[in-house]
Amino acid sequence: MTGRLHGVVAMDGPSGTGKSTVSRRLAASCDAAYLDTGAMYRALTLAVLRAGLDGSDPAAEAVALGAVADLQSVVDPIAPRILLVGKDVEAEIRGPEVTAAVSAVSAVPAVRAALVERQRLIVADAVAAGGIVVEGRDIGSVVVPDAPLKVYLTASEHIRAVRRGAQDRKAGRNGDVAAVLADVRRRDRLDSTRRTSPLHAAVDAVVLDTDELSVDAVLVELLRLVRERGLVS
Ligand code: DC
Repeated sequence: MTGRLHGVVAMDGPSGTGKSTVSRRLAASCDAAYLDTGAMYRALTLAVLRAGLDGSDPAAEAVALGAVADLQSVVDPIAPRILLVGKDVEAEIRGPEVTAAVSAVSAVPAVRAALVERQRLIVADAVAAGGIVVEGRDIGSVVVPDAPLKVYLTASEHIRAVRRGAQDRKAGRNGDVAAVLADVRRRDRLDSTRRTSPLHAAVDAVVLDTDELSVDAVLVELLRLVRERGLVS
């Protein structure tokens, strides 16, 4: 244990940068909560698909907004989970159907506004009790713009596709690197060009390129940063 985290660490960046792994490990090693905001967008997307709609259907917005109240995030970094109407949907939200539709759902301004409000409540609760590591695409830029530490992880497309492919294969899904690379490119384009809160590094974020860094090396750097900012006691 490194000491206890106080306040918020905002972790942003595209998929396949190792964000989830290092965010969870950082939270676990400084006795903090961990919130995966991507899981929240994914769970709303699952609700849309279950209603028989695709992400870009005009009726998807109302279904997604209606499902916000049905979400419950478990912020334990050792066993983070998301529940939809009381059921753990962690495995389902990682599947190809949700992955294909999530960028469309997460581009809807009203859906983002509702989730940002929800995320701020979770963050406020966690901060009252200690600290929280929050990962996503807009944490440092929109959700917690006054976070005392903002980190933006990057890596080349190829490395991210290789990492995502390995994760998919481990979870029993098709992890063909060429297909994953095409999906990484498609989602990067949609997430970075959407009108509301596009993916970008906050001006005051520390940018870490993880191409040449192992998970352990990224963690060492994050722990150095939280100590340097006086965020652990
Ligand atoms: O981190 P992830 O791949 O599980 O995120 C799934 C999608 O949700 C991703 O394509 C972009 C979107 N997302 C977002 O728009 N804002 C966030 N804070 C987190 C995720």
